[in-house]
Amino acid sequence: MRSGSLALTNIGQLVTNDPSREGLLGVVADAGVIVIDGIISWVGAAADLPETPDVIDCDGAAVVPGFVDPHTHLAFAGDRADEFGRRLRGESYEEIMAAGGGIRSTVAATRAATTGDLTSATLDRARRMQAAGTTTVEVKSGYGLDLEHEKRLLAVAAAAGSAIALDVVPTFLGAHTVPPEFAGDADGFVDHLVEVVLPECAPLARFCDVFCDKGVFTVDQARRVLLAGKEHGLLPRLHANQLARSGGVQLAVELGAMSADHLDHLADEDIAALSAAETVAVLLPGVSFSLRLPQARGRDLWDAGVTVALGTDCNPGTSHIETMPFVIALACLEMGLTPEEALWSATRGGALALGLEDRGHIIPGARGDLVVLAHTSYVHLAYRPDAPPVAKVIKRGLRV
Ligand code: NIG
Ligand code: FE
Repeated sequence: MRSGSLALTNIGQLVTNDPSREGLLGVVADAGVIVIDGIISWVGAAADLPETPDVIDCDGAAVVPGFVDPHTHLAFAGDRADEFGRRLRGESYEEIMAAGGGIRSTVAATRAATTGDLTSATLDRARRMQAAGTTTVEVKSGYGLDLEHEKRLLAVAAAAGSAIALDVVPTFLGAHTVPPEFAGDADGFVDHLVEVVLPECAPLARFCDVFCDKGVFTVDQARRVLLAGKEHGLLPRLHANQLARSGGVQLAVELGAMSADHLDHLADEDIAALSAAETVAVLLPGVSFSLRLPQARGRDLWDAGVTVALGTDCNPGTSHIETMPFVIALACLEMGLTPEEALWSATRGGALALGLEDRGHIIPGARGDLVVLAHTSYVHLAYRPDAPPVAKVIKRGLRV
């Protein structure tokens, strides 16, 4: 654990997400914060700030909790700019996937990359995320699809996080698509995953995820992988209802998944099922934006009382987007969340989606992960979507 103390003072607008304070965001005006040994120890009016040696004057800027991005595919090699062009000329994501492109082309590039190249590409993305205020990021495997390469992706993700003090939460997504060596035999691949790949990857991951959707893995196949993950200590989360109403929501609820992610195809009964469950809805507005498709029903999920989180889904196919401020802007401008809902979902919502009680809020006892915005109000994150959003990032009480 880091030692030493750091104070922030002259914070014009402090977003605490503290439910004991007023409003969704628990905003404190003219505030100060103290972080000791990486943990927030004091929050209050700047005028009352106790004497502290190391003080950052925020000069009236807004300060928010470090962003928690609960859904990324950060570790991959290559890009798919060619497919992006094809989509803009009229082909659909599913047509490209059915023709053997899509995820499978990134699997080929990722398997072929040296570990050094894969690590440096992943680290570059991680650095840009962190510079834009992300302090915790979930990273999925899923572009390896065999034992050697899935393990390598999880190791690369962990290495990128420790190189820059970015908290990486690893997820095993061996069931991302059926690899060429199992073409036409999804059940055989699921057997192999469950018997061979998952047991060796489980010690490197915290969660297990499956792309459960039309043309990818069925509900029964996804259930099998997620139950096997549970046996190996991995909590389930799920790519659900991205391409169709595939039954993913019901499976996520049945298994008590931490989150159901994407949710682009939702009927009222799916929203009702989520609102009766603990499962967090992780919405990824960068995907619909990049694919030029309608956004998920974020407004309706919020209004139904579902816990909503926002993520980048950073990946080379559907959302080559790295930064949470951009996602907040999309959630407001394209999905119809308020600036308060979007910011809460990008911080506390992300923490809850990852089961991390100690972050996503600025309260005594929480992790000292904070972002000094380059704005006097968090509203500017969406209001001025092309303005540089971040002045300073503080990770466990240290400036990064
Ligand atoms: O979250 N849906 C599955 N996986 C990614 C896409 C990955 C890719 O196209 O490479 C997603 O959208
Ligand atoms: Fe995804």
